Formats: sequence, structure tokens, C-alpha cells
Amino acid sequence: MLSYRHSYHAGNFADVLKHIVQIAIIEYLKKKDKPFTVHDTHSGAGSYLINSDHMQKTGEYRDGIARLIDQRTEIGVIDQYVNLIKQLNPVGKLMEYPGSPQIAASLLREQDRLQCTELHTTDVDLLQKRFAKDKRVRVEKMDAWQGFKAMLPPEHRRGMVLIDPSYELEKDYREMLPALRMAMERWSTATYAIWYPVMDRNRTESFLRQFMKAEIPNMLRLELCVRPDASGRGMTGSGMLVINPPYTLAQHMAQAMPVLKKLLCDPEGHTLVRQLTDEAPT
Ligand SMILES: C[S@@+](CC[C@H](N)C(=O)[O-])C[C@H]1O[C@@H](n2cnc3c(N)ncnc32)[C@H](O)[C@@H]1O
Repeated sequence: MLSYRHSYHAGNFADVLKHIVQIAIIEYLKKKDKPFTVHDTHSGAGSYLINSDHMQKTGEYRDGIARLIDQRTEIGVIDQYVNLIKQLNPVGKLMEYPGSPQIAASLLREQDRLQCTELHTTDVDLLQKRFAKDKRVRVEKMDAWQGFKAMLPPEHRRGMVLIDPSYELEKDYREMLPALRMAMERWSTATYAIWYPVMDRNRTESFLRQFMKAEIPNMLRLELCVRPDASGRGMTGSGMLVINPPYTLAQHMAQAMPVLKKLLCDPEGHTLVRQLTDEAPT
């Protein structure tokens, strides 16, 4: 029984970072005409109504997307994110916040594909209905790692995998590296973007150390912590571990982080953009 519902958290500061990075990767893939595939492992419901009881109950979006929606920052990766959210809210007011599948589908071209796995019955039903008429999109009610076995590699060489578990269960941390290895064996040319929470700094660092020990080449770490680290006080920050990032991503995120810090963080918040490992020699 899955208890996590993204509808309580949509548009929060963690979604802002995740979706900025997701969009930056997809826009980079779009620089070439060749088709690509986006594979979304933990897709959620696809889109979330701001006025829903869930979003209003936590109000997390108020410290996330709501702080950016009226900003023009002149930072490309932030402005393209804000512009997309505005485009999906044509009435000129924030009514709906898109999840990762809706973001991907909005950016795909005719020749590109999106494949989604999600386990929550309600959310996967919503997702399947949302994309029922979109032939570019495949949605499966399937465990994320099962989805790697069943759906990777996709038909295209180019693409990205967004890995976004809720980390409610210890196994979400434990199973990540073996699952990633399996996916990379099947589809080595993709960019992998793994979201992780910062709730307990020691937990986060030991999670990331595994990837270092595994000597996975070309890993970029991006982190936005809106409050100082404080174990036992909920999620104070979140990060993205990006494997095979577009070569422009580190530079673009280094420009974006100070602006995100100003807009989203307490004065004691902190950010990080760090290349963890180099590209494998060719
Ligand atoms: C953080 S949410 C995803 C949010 C979405 N990626 C977005 O950015 O809009 C995590 C989702 O993973 C789903 N989930 C949990 N365990 C799963 C599993 N083993 N396989 C696939 N989906 C799972 C949950 O139901 C939840 O909807």
C-alpha cells in the first residue's frame, strides 16, 4: 500500500529544482532533430490543481513555484521553467502545477517519446486518462525497476531517465544503485537524473558515497537547501544527481543557484553545484 501522494507536495522547492533540471536536459536533447525518449520511473499523477484540498492543506507550493511565477530572472534555465508553467496556465493565474510527465509531454516533438511507470492506482489512472489520446506517451502501472527491465532500452539511443522515488521506504535508498546499474547496462547513452531529499545529512552523504565508490563516470551533483541541515526537522533541501549531464548543465545551474537561493532559501540556506566524477576517457 503506497501512502505517498505527490499532490500534497507539487510545486514545492524540491519540484522547482527537479523540474528546472528536467527541462534543461530535455531542451538540450531538442537541439538536434534526432528523436529521443524520456523515461519517467515514478511519474505521479501528471498534473495537480492548486485549489485542491491536498495542495491547499500543505501549501508547500507557496514556498516553491509561487515565489518564482512572477519573476523574470534573465537566467535561461529558470526563465524557461517559469515560461512553461505560465504556458500551462493560460488564464494568467497559477491554477495547475504540472508533474514531470506533463512537463515532458509539453516539450516533446512529434518524433519523441515519453514512457512512464507509476504504481499508485489513483495516480496511474489519472495519468493514463491524461495521455490516452497522445500516441507519443506510454503509461504503465508497473514498479519502477520492473519498468527498466520491460521498457529499456527504448527505440531511441538519445534520451533521459528521471528517477524520482518518494524515499519513504529504506529500500528506495538501498535499491537505487543496483537499479541504476541495470538501467545503464541496457541504455548507456542516456542522461540519468536522480532526485534525492536532504533530511538527515549523514543519510544523504552515505547515499551519495555509494555512487562515488561505484566509480560511475561523469556525475554532476546539484543541491538546493532552503534551510540549514537539521536532522529530524523534515526536508530541509533536495538535490539532483545527474549522470551524463549535458555539458552545459553545470555552468547553467551555477548561474541559476544564487538566484534560486535568493528566491527560495532562508538566509542560512545553501546550494551546491559540483562535478563529482569526470567523463570516462574515450
Ligand atoms: C515524488 S513522486 C513523483 C513525482 C513526479 N516525478 C513529478 O515530478 O511530478 C513519487 C511517485 O512514485 C510512486 N511510486 C512509489 N513507489 C513506486 C515504485 N516502486 N514504482 C513506481 N512508482 C512508485 C508514488 O506513487 C509517487 O506517485
